[in-house]
Amino acid sequence: MKKLDDFRLNLGKKEYVPIMLGGMGVDISNKELAVEIASLGGIGHISDAMICTITDRHYNTNFVKNKYNKYKQYASQKNKAEVQFDLKEIEEATRLHVEHTMNEKRGEGAIYINCMEKLTMNNPAETLKVRLTSAMDSGIDGITLSAGLHLGSFELIKGHSRFRDLKLGIIVSSLRALTLFLRRAARVERLPDFIVVEGPLAGGHLGFGLEDWKKYNLKDIVSEILEYLRDKDLNIPVIPAGGIFTGTDGIEFMEMGASAIQVATRFTIAKECGLPDDVKQIYLTAGEKDVEVNTTSPTGYPMRMLKNSPSINSGIKPSCEGLGYILDREGNCSYISAYYDVKAKGDKNVSVQGKTCLCMHMKNFKCWTCGHYVYRLKDTTNLASDGTYPLPSARHIFEDYQFSVNHEIKRPPLS
Ligand SMILES: Cc1cc2nc3c(=O)[nH]c(=O)nc-3n(C[C@H](O)[C@H](O)[C@H](O)COP(=O)(O)O)c2cc1C
Repeated sequence: MKKLDDFRLNLGKKEYVPIMLGGMGVDISNKELAVEIASLGGIGHISDAMICTITDRHYNTNFVKNKYNKYKQYASQKNKAEVQFDLKEIEEATRLHVEHTMNEKRGEGAIYINCMEKLTMNNPAETLKVRLTSAMDSGIDGITLSAGLHLGSFELIKGHSRFRDLKLGIIVSSLRALTLFLRRAARVERLPDFIVVEGPLAGGHLGFGLEDWKKYNLKDIVSEILEYLRDKDLNIPVIPAGGIFTGTDGIEFMEMGASAIQVATRFTIAKECGLPDDVKQIYLTAGEKDVEVNTTSPTGYPMRMLKNSPSINSGIKPSCEGLGYILDREGNCSYISAYYDVKAKGDKNVSVQGKTCLCMHMKNFKCWTCGHYVYRLKDTTNLASDGTYPLPSARHIFEDYQFSVNHEIKRPPLS
């Protein structure tokens, strides 16, 4: 019987266990998790989402407070056009996070950074360029471009000395998105080194419509993309993601011609994962009916989350002066408009329906995004006598993917 360990992912001259931990912002796929995955021979991701919040939390910086103080006169104004990120600070924050992570890296695996285009940060092109360039300068092994088509992203970094040697990948949810990306990549004569194909059961933002995600399935999209690449004689590793819950699920994709799998939800309850332990217990107790895909994210993309996420219907005051990661190039965010519309009605308790302040809630771990199969997490550990679930280590989960057969899931020992 085959197991994932019978396969290897070849990227350039390197060989990896074919398991990639997907990027999970904000600081959910943290340094500890990424380092552990790399030590086991796989590929771990950190994320640069809300990078200044991450460095303030871990490396004693004061980026958020300083930015807030600089722009606090806009705190009660709807228009945030003047509230700009300092590019030098983005560069410094990225450097800190990447260097600290890479300094701790051990073993034969790799660590990549997940960069979402949807973080428009009131100045999309310039901020993205600095984020990518700084990660490359700081020694990251690879970059995974996500949450957006990234049509101009290769252009932004084509002059960098590492542009042709570090690993660059793209996440797509359709063949159409891939062909658009490849057309633009051809202009700089640089193909992606890997393609993550993310299906409708993934966590985080989805590349599908609110209603139509149910009509798609990952296997069909992967098979269409594999066929296209074969037709065009393009030898680029394809890495499916979204709802791959056991090693055996992974084998089914490897047998179709995939080169590795990308997984995330099972690692949300790992000891090393950045989510607070009480939130991990909430993920562990979730039932199938507790999960929804909604459009509360101001990015405009549907997002999967637990229905009891405190972010839903919260009326928290926007705090773009210190944060502001979703501001578009004109300094707007759909949560700000929704918030001020509700405020104008004069209600004492502000509850904003339909939109959420993603920055504040992701920062505080109050938006509980998850993959479709979050409700199966309880089957991956035990219920202790005190009613809580002991948390497995990242190594336990990784090796369960790597060695399991027959869809078996090995539970960690009760300590
Ligand atoms: C908690 C959580 C946060 C996520 N955040 C991001 C993110 O910031 N950027 C991104 O590209 N994908 C994000 N994802 C998607 C994962 O990287 C991954 O591709 C997907 O969830 C894999 O499916 P699985 O969770 O069913 O294993 C997130 C997923 C989860 C569960």
